[in-house]
Amino acid sequence: MTQRTEWWISVSELPDWVPSGVDVSVPNAARIHDYALGGHHHFAIDREHWRLAETAVPDARLITYAQRGFLGRAVRWLAGRGVRQFLDIGSGLPTLGNVHEVARDADPAARVVYVDNDPVTVVQSRALLEHEPRARAVEGDLRRPEDILYHPEVLELLDFSEPVAVLMLDVLRFVAGPDRPGEIVRRFGEACVSGSYLVVSHTVLRLPGESAAGRTAGEITAMLDDLAIVDPGVVPATDWHPDPLIDETSQPGALVAVARKS
Ligand SMILES: C[S@@+](CC[C@H](N)C(=O)[O-])C[C@H]1O[C@@H](n2cnc3c(N)ncnc32)[C@H](O)[C@@H]1O
Repeated sequence: MTQRTEWWISVSELPDWVPSGVDVSVPNAARIHDYALGGHHHFAIDREHWRLAETAVPDARLITYAQRGFLGRAVRWLAGRGVRQFLDIGSGLPTLGNVHEVARDADPAARVVYVDNDPVTVVQSRALLEHEPRARAVEGDLRRPEDILYHPEVLELLDFSEPVAVLMLDVLRFVAGPDRPGEIVRRFGEACVSGSYLVVSHTVLRLPGESAAGRTAGEITAMLDDLAIVDPGVVPATDWHPDPLIDETSQPGALVAVARKS
């Protein structure tokens, strides 16, 4: 345990999972998300940030859960179509029903690389995946596609001459207009062979304190315009191939799409 004091609140101890050099006074998207999903890797500043988000957008937690539910259904759907490789960018922590667990249920040989630009998330993810030979986490920034596509650890596990599903779930909102999100999405599509898929989820609203705005169905469709968006199209996360056994109210706060490269 490390003794440290946050600038705004006194804390006696930080848990062992916190790598040295992490600034606990700055909120972090991965940890806020982990808190929203009921995880265990967050600080007081992250929880405070989430409370502000929920005050501004009372449905924020439902929107987060809707996207997590979509993740599971989309990965199962892709696995059912023979996809065995997954590149999950802006992955957050691979806990709570994440991609490798769902993919592995379909085929134990499925391979998954998680990419996040937050070093704490990557360190923590590596620890969680320690005993997973077919899943790993690497540090990378969605805004620099080549660095991800040519990352040695990505290429060690994923074979881009075979279909890959590239997941960008609840991450494109962190890529503002000047960073050209459309070009980034297109680049990942170009890098994949026919039979590959791009999977996108996007909050519609802007949450407080974030630099990037939410996006409309039209904007998401435009990002995927080189590919064929599969049925049912760009729809609320809850409405994409809903689980017939779960009675979920439609949640319009997050839009999703799955697109196939032909
Ligand atoms: C809201 S969380 C979503 C996590 C997960 N994809 C999900 O849907 O449950 C957003 C994640 O994207 C990461 N992130 C934000 N900007 C990024 C970027 N430019 N490149 C890679 N990851 C990024 C954050 O660190 C965080 O872990």
